[in-house]
Amino acid sequence: MSKETFYITTPIYYPSDKLHIGHAYTTVAADAIARFKKLTGYDVYFLTGSDEHGQKIERTAKAKGQTPKEYVDKIVAGFKHLWGKLDVEYNDFIRTTEDRHKKVVEMFFEQLYKQGDIYKSSYKGWYCTPCETFFTEYQLAEGKCPDCGREVELLEEESYFFKMSKYADQWLKFIEENPDFIQPETRRNEMISFVKQGLEDLCVSRTTFDWGIKVPFDPNHVVYVWVDALTNYISALGYGSENDDLYQKYWPADVHLVGKDIMRFHTIIWPIMLMALNLPLPKKVMGHGWLLLEGGKMSKSKGNVVDPLKLIDKYGADAVRYYLLRELPFGSDGYYSEEALAKRINNDLANDYGNLLSRTSSMLVKYQQGELRKPQPEGKLDEELINLAVETPKVVEENMNNLQISAALEAISKLVGRANKYLEETAPWSLAKDETKTARLNTVLYNVIEVMRFATIMLSPFMPNIPEKVWAQIGIEDKKELQTWDSLRWGKLPEGTVVKKGKVLFPRIDLSTI
Ligand code: ME8
Ligand code: MG
Repeated sequence: MSKETFYITTPIYYPSDKLHIGHAYTTVAADAIARFKKLTGYDVYFLTGSDEHGQKIERTAKAKGQTPKEYVDKIVAGFKHLWGKLDVEYNDFIRTTEDRHKKVVEMFFEQLYKQGDIYKSSYKGWYCTPCETFFTEYQLAEGKCPDCGREVELLEEESYFFKMSKYADQWLKFIEENPDFIQPETRRNEMISFVKQGLEDLCVSRTTFDWGIKVPFDPNHVVYVWVDALTNYISALGYGSENDDLYQKYWPADVHLVGKDIMRFHTIIWPIMLMALNLPLPKKVMGHGWLLLEGGKMSKSKGNVVDPLKLIDKYGADAVRYYLLRELPFGSDGYYSEEALAKRINNDLANDYGNLLSRTSSMLVKYQQGELRKPQPEGKLDEELINLAVETPKVVEENMNNLQISAALEAISKLVGRANKYLEETAPWSLAKDETKTARLNTVLYNVIEVMRFATIMLSPFMPNIPEKVWAQIGIEDKKELQTWDSLRWGKLPEGTVVKKGKVLFPRIDLSTI
């Protein structure tokens, strides 16, 4: 039987500067979802990439005395380096400067023009000469350029427009029939009221800069931002080329994961483009919240960014991934601080998860040469622990399918917490002093290690380097069949398994060093 497919994407980020932990948040979330779907039996395709055209890039490169291509090549190499460091396992990385992408953008533009959905007109806007940028009335900062604060002038520019307005009713009908398309629901309501206020046609070309894909039948114009960028989600799959197997297999996407800043483009412009082209629409667009700093949203243009590479060097990729995914309820904003990161590591990973393994393995080594013996569950305490262990994978899966990553992690924490409490309640260190309690001691230690196996399998999509270390300590590194999602059935861990004492999984962080 062939597996069900699952296609997930991140935004393609602008190489206008290095990426910060806000971008890392989206990509790590997408990676965790992708890994989770793989673990639970899906045939997954995970796409990320870079959005390389536009005036800003052209200008930045020029200021550095480089060609735009030289400039973006370097920055994009940095993107890939970061994703490698964060253990992001994408299937493909699309760059909008690649031929495979350009061809599809040209084809779309031409097709929409031919069918009358793109037309030539003129675009009126406030122009800032030093910044060489048009702004709408609404974007101006007290009548001045929002970037440099200088005077702007009203200019008119010849442009192509996409007839978005024509599709407003079709869009509203689609959203009504597909209530899950926009997540979370608050964003859905915002988008609906935005469209109901009346959709304007979208300006889709520019003549004031060169660094972009030329309009095929009018090369004075370059295709403007969103038509170029959004198309990546299918150009990467080989749409319209000789080999479109990936497109046939994976489109429509299951989830476009984006930040709330670009929801409008993904939930209104992109679906309308696809409607106009008569192509299937993605199944879901999820807009997550922002990572904020004390001073507001972290952003490249504000310069108040946190470099993920520094955090990875200091705390390791697993801990950084865990923090990002655990801290923000998916969909809401949250504040970033290094102190909160360190506290998460200390509380959840060092004190709870890591310590559960180290205290239990110490006792196993001390009392029974590390050997797990046949458990004989008895009574309420065992029952409670086992029931929770058996329930947790279901809770995790349901939350992950609803893209509630933080809630999924919370459920795993709850199980780990319950197991630590179980150790306090059953007090194996006392059982060890009484020879008549040996069977009970075996059972307690077995149960805790079995919980550790459950928790580790469930945590593997979030912290991909941890399982290997835990399997070695539990002594099942060669038993792949005990490391799968399907093996999450209580009691599969065989008696006779020998647990070893290993290195501490997550050393505690001294908060005074921050
Ligand atoms: O918008 N908190 O690229 P971009 C959380 N090229 N997420 C954040 C964040 C923050 N403080 N800052 C950035 C673009 N992000 C376009 C996308 S897609 C066809 C084209 C994440 O480099 C979040 O996912 O500005 C946001 O949507 C994205 O980075 C914007 O990245
Ligand atoms: Mg942005």
